[in-house]
Amino acid sequence: MNTRPLKTFSRPLFVFILTGFTGGCGILTPPAGTPTFTPLPSATFTPTPVTWENLASTPPMGWNSYNHFNCNISETLIKETADAMITSGMRAAGYQYVNIDDCWMASERNADGTLEPDPKKFPNGIKAVADYVHSKGLKLGIYLDRGTKTCGGFPGSYGYEVQDAGTIASWGIDYMKYDNCSPAPGSSLVTDYTTMSNALKATGRPIVFSMCSWGFPGSWVASGRIAHLWRTTSDIKDTWDSLMAIMDANSVSAAFAGPSHWNDPDMLEVGNGGLTDTEYRSHFTMWALMAAPLIAGNDLRTMSQATIDILTAPEVIAVNQDPLGIQGTLVGNIEGTKKPEVWSKILSGNNVRAVVLLNRSDQTADISIKWIDLGLPSGPASVRDLWLRTDLGAFENGYTATVPSHGVVLIRVASVGGDMPTVTPAP
Ligand code: GLA
Repeated sequence: MNTRPLKTFSRPLFVFILTGFTGGCGILTPPAGTPTFTPLPSATFTPTPVTWENLASTPPMGWNSYNHFNCNISETLIKETADAMITSGMRAAGYQYVNIDDCWMASERNADGTLEPDPKKFPNGIKAVADYVHSKGLKLGIYLDRGTKTCGGFPGSYGYEVQDAGTIASWGIDYMKYDNCSPAPGSSLVTDYTTMSNALKATGRPIVFSMCSWGFPGSWVASGRIAHLWRTTSDIKDTWDSLMAIMDANSVSAAFAGPSHWNDPDMLEVGNGGLTDTEYRSHFTMWALMAAPLIAGNDLRTMSQATIDILTAPEVIAVNQDPLGIQGTLVGNIEGTKKPEVWSKILSGNNVRAVVLLNRSDQTADISIKWIDLGLPSGPASVRDLWLRTDLGAFENGYTATVPSHGVVLIRVASVGGDMPTVTPAP
């Protein structure tokens, strides 16, 4: 087990020191009878330092260029996307990372081995883009690869890990996706990702580390000391079958997820046009329930109001961002056929669950859940519909909803009287 202390990133600490009033210019004698105040003892307030462990304490939220734009990226696109993240309300809803994927580089490193951006796509360099994104209160992500070439054929970081980590840190990068193409002969996945993890930590800059090795890497990542998230599957497609297959595969490693170490079932396809809004609502719901990173993959500049409403649904996002960070899973022992499914995620509070009634079949279906199958006490529980943002009332023992084909009903279930922490009064 690695017992080395984890890096604490240096950043300016704002220390507020409260002291008693010590007087100004000249000495004033208070009139007789004026109450006197005993100065308070000095107190200090120190904000929580940013550490590797708390850098992604809830699943990261942002956008990535690949699903919609592939290699058609540019400084203009990234800046316009940052602007759209704000005007659409996504920043206010919690999204913060604007992530550049593959194909941002020039085809060769420069003479001293430093990575250079493609001068046509990024004529002012990456730091200028980072400065712009930061000026908007957002963060910038970038893409590298652990092999000799990226998946798009650009320079890989094998053998250049320390130099590349230093380069992206000097540009002000906040998030890095590390891909898995063209591994060097004789190299090992574990060594390559660990080497880059250490190189990132050594920069002293807090950079979220996103592993992309297309399958749960193994329990060696579960400590959260290697990466903040890891891709559990091959690339997502904008089809219903792809979403369902990825969801099932991502569930296998549910037990290994937690604050600052997340299973990543790949970026969202919401708004990319291959599915209905009902299906995209199901996609977003299931990614929220699985505590997956919510990385939008559509064109934020032109998206419809329906897409905005899905991506910014506050009570669905709250399920995803619940501080316990437990990945929701399929509930066993339910009645009904195989295709209508019930999934559940433990939320913070006493006896509180997010529950998805998911209809994978081709017909409308009634889907039921009993409280006992959620591990909740029998007796009444309050039910709230999190898409409709409506309280549905208290229900004895269970709940049934009619769910359209490829649709979901997402509810929050709280045992009545059981969702408030017990406070013991001081004697
Ligand atoms: C791989 C990754 C994708 C994307 C492309 C870029 O396929 O899994 O998410 O980054 O490479 O080339």
